[in-house]
Amino acid sequence: MPSSAELHRRRSEAVARGVSSMIPSYVSSAGGGTMTDVDGREWIDFAAGIAVTNVGNAAPRVVAAVRDQVERFAHTCFMIAPYEQYVAVCEELAALTPGDFAKRSALFNSGAEAVENAVKIARHATGRQAIVVFDHAYHGRTNLTLALTAKVMPYKQGFGPFAGEIYRVPMSYPLRDGRSGADAAAYAIGQIEKHVGAANVAAVLIEPVQGEGGFVVPAPGFLPALAAWTRQAGAVFIADEIQTGFCRTGAWFASEHEGIEPDLITTAKGIAGGLPLAAVTGRAEIMDAVHPGGLGGTYGGNPIACAAALASIETMRELDLAAAARHIEAVARPRLEALAAKHPQIGEVRGRGAMLALELIVPGESGPNGPAPDPQGTAAVAKAAHESGLLLLTCGTYGNVIRLLPPLVITDDELDRGLTLLEQAFDNLGASLV
Ligand SMILES: Cc1ncc(COP(=O)(O)O)c(C=O)c1O
Repeated sequence: MPSSAELHRRRSEAVARGVSSMIPSYVSSAGGGTMTDVDGREWIDFAAGIAVTNVGNAAPRVVAAVRDQVERFAHTCFMIAPYEQYVAVCEELAALTPGDFAKRSALFNSGAEAVENAVKIARHATGRQAIVVFDHAYHGRTNLTLALTAKVMPYKQGFGPFAGEIYRVPMSYPLRDGRSGADAAAYAIGQIEKHVGAANVAAVLIEPVQGEGGFVVPAPGFLPALAAWTRQAGAVFIADEIQTGFCRTGAWFASEHEGIEPDLITTAKGIAGGLPLAAVTGRAEIMDAVHPGGLGGTYGGNPIACAAALASIETMRELDLAAAARHIEAVARPRLEALAAKHPQIGEVRGRGAMLALELIVPGESGPNGPAPDPQGTAAVAKAAHESGLLLLTCGTYGNVIRLLPPLVITDDELDRGLTLLEQAFDNLGASLV
């Protein structure tokens, strides 16, 4: 097997520079909560391929289901010759997503594609155009979803012009806006009413816990107030649960923590144990507003991906991975809080379930948006973690958030080893961080 160094050399001659990788090590195998690179080094996985392998990499049921499906048929295109697996995934989505009402689903390949389709459906169903999104939002990298995404570098820089009729309003961000959920919602709603007009809004689109934007958990009450306003305005409330879904936050969906029942939910990532699959699920009358043939795509709901999704869902149910996510939080949060007590550059520990974050600040310094962010310190901690064998991601509008996204099947021992490496990264860098 070629070494990482050799593969890196070949890559620089063959792979576009715009597609970058976090670490220079190439994967040989991965399973459960660990990954092994081609140089024989083992890593603790706190990334799960960005919240995808919730059931672990190479999860036994997923492997068996994929193998079985690919031997039977790999593709017919659901729009040409349909198959049971697609229908079964839609049945599971109807049962698992919040809301005791008739639902329909449509399947796609990526999160961005699901979000694009949710926007199409909401516009079609309401006959309106305006889509309301939030500061720090991330919804994907296609042209429409880039318009919905907030952060310029690296996502949007140089890629415009972007789609129109997208309106951005302030997000509830307790560390930085100091507002209660009700106040933050009233402020955002005021902005929508002034700058967009309630009668023009097709949809309000929000991540119940923001992902790439910094694992921002809105203050309690923010999401329910927005959902209520949206319904009153005759618009569609869309929860983008692409990162938060499928047990990640300690419930099947993060909307459940605040008792909201979105009209539409977009899902992807954790749905299929590593295979590309995405969905829009929602109220039957909204989903069915679109004429036959108005939604689809060659690969959407590919049978192998659907088989993987059914096996992943079965695994989540059987192993109770929502409880596993709560257990991960119960173990990790006290250690992260102890770390924050030791290192004043950790401004906040936040998150839900196995979606936890540390926001790094410059102690004693603040600006117009609250505590001064420390992106350099964040990058230094991540680099130290990588050097010690911990796959650790950063995020945030200001690039100053360290995020923990382990597979939900990570063992206590692996979790302990990963947390120890993170603690060591802070301890070793302690003096140079401020
Ligand atoms: C909340 C959210 N929406 C949409 C996307 C886009 O998904 P994909 O990368 O599969 O297109 C992501 C990906 O990180 C996400 O976190």
